[in-house]
Amino acid sequence: MKAYFIKNANVLNQEGELERKSIMIADGKILDIMDENAGYFASEDTDVEVIDAAGKLVVPGLIDMHVHLREPGFEHKETIETGSRSAVKGGFTTIACMPNTRPVTDDPETVQMVLKKAQEANLAKVLPYAAITINELGRELTNFEALKSAGAIGYTDDGVGVQSAQMMKDAMALAASLDMPVIAHCEDNSLVEGACVAEGEFARKHGLKGIPNESEAIHVGRDILLAEATGVHYHVCHVSTEQSVRLIRQAKEIGIKVTAEVCPHHLILADEDIPGLDANWKMNPPLRSRRDVEACIKGLEDGTLDMIVTDHAPHSAEEKAKGMELAPFGIVGFETAFPLLYTKFVETGKWTLKFLVDKMTAEPARVFRLDTGRLEKDAIADVTIIDLEGLRAVDPNEFATKGRNTPFTGWELKGWPVMTFVDGKKVYSDPTLS
Ligand code: DOR
Ligand code: ZN
Ligand code: ZN
Repeated sequence: MKAYFIKNANVLNQEGELERKSIMIADGKILDIMDENAGYFASEDTDVEVIDAAGKLVVPGLIDMHVHLREPGFEHKETIETGSRSAVKGGFTTIACMPNTRPVTDDPETVQMVLKKAQEANLAKVLPYAAITINELGRELTNFEALKSAGAIGYTDDGVGVQSAQMMKDAMALAASLDMPVIAHCEDNSLVEGACVAEGEFARKHGLKGIPNESEAIHVGRDILLAEATGVHYHVCHVSTEQSVRLIRQAKEIGIKVTAEVCPHHLILADEDIPGLDANWKMNPPLRSRRDVEACIKGLEDGTLDMIVTDHAPHSAEEKAKGMELAPFGIVGFETAFPLLYTKFVETGKWTLKFLVDKMTAEPARVFRLDTGRLEKDAIADVTIIDLEGLRAVDPNEFATKGRNTPFTGWELKGWPVMTFVDGKKVYSDPTLS
């Protein structure tokens, strides 16, 4: 197997300072991280490629615990192959995919099919979630034990909320007995019916029915009580409201096993930023008020929200052209996530670089007990190299994902991933790199 010697790398230390290091990758592992001027030794028959990372940041491969790859069933939106290609281009080496496919990933065969396709793509590591209920219809629990044996890493009906409290409680009790997490898309349908954007100024201006904050927070509150009762590890998807952050903060304070994620768009955009009736700004949960955005940022900063995920949700241009009310919910996320967050929060001095990197590596690894997310000697060689200097505009036509549905077109950003390694294999390299 080919080995790599990355020289002049800027690496974050425990204190969050940048240190100049050389990194030797071989046999799928980080063989060594050495001081700047160290050379390398390799037997003559080892093929070593030297990579000059001068001026670039080297971090553990990014981890995204909430993505939609669309296969099986919606291959016109994305395939496991195109989604994985998009992930590694965005610097992600591990991605966890949602089961709202067709068929729904609610049986062991579909879980294994996803794993097989991911292996064939041979790009990012793909961790499948399985559905909580058959067909995500909320009527009947899936076979949790068989799904775990097939390789599912948790249970979720993402795309819809589990409407019945009894169903959710049964799911949590069963998951707890198997030492598996329940991951929840929190949405009470009775409060949402027919709405496509958040309740508030934008909805009023355009005469649209609004999605209220309580539709999310009611499920968060309910599920926290059920998690307390069952002892399950309960993970809240894409937190978007001030009220959800408050409930999760309080639950953590009293020791309930709850964790949570937040998406870049909910940290950066509010409903008042939506330029018009353009469905590239439509996702679920929706963009909310500036006050909610600030609460999510605060929640991430104080540890209430554990990690950042993209909720990468590709749709075709035809589907998104149906307009704000009829188009499906969702925006793509892999290829803009790091540059957006780096430019908006690190370049501006609001966050340290280490804070951002931890929320996309060490934190998801800790919460989901993954053996990746670390850049150190003997660690698995999932590694991402990022250019922190070059300014580039977001151009959906350059995306590796099939999806072009992003509200960030034209945004001038820094922090573009330029090279990605998974298990010591180079899976992405920016073609413009000299
Ligand atoms: O925006 C979203 N897109 N939210 C969801 O809950 C589902 C997802 C999708 O599958 O497109
Ligand atoms: Zn969701
Ligand atoms: Zn989702």
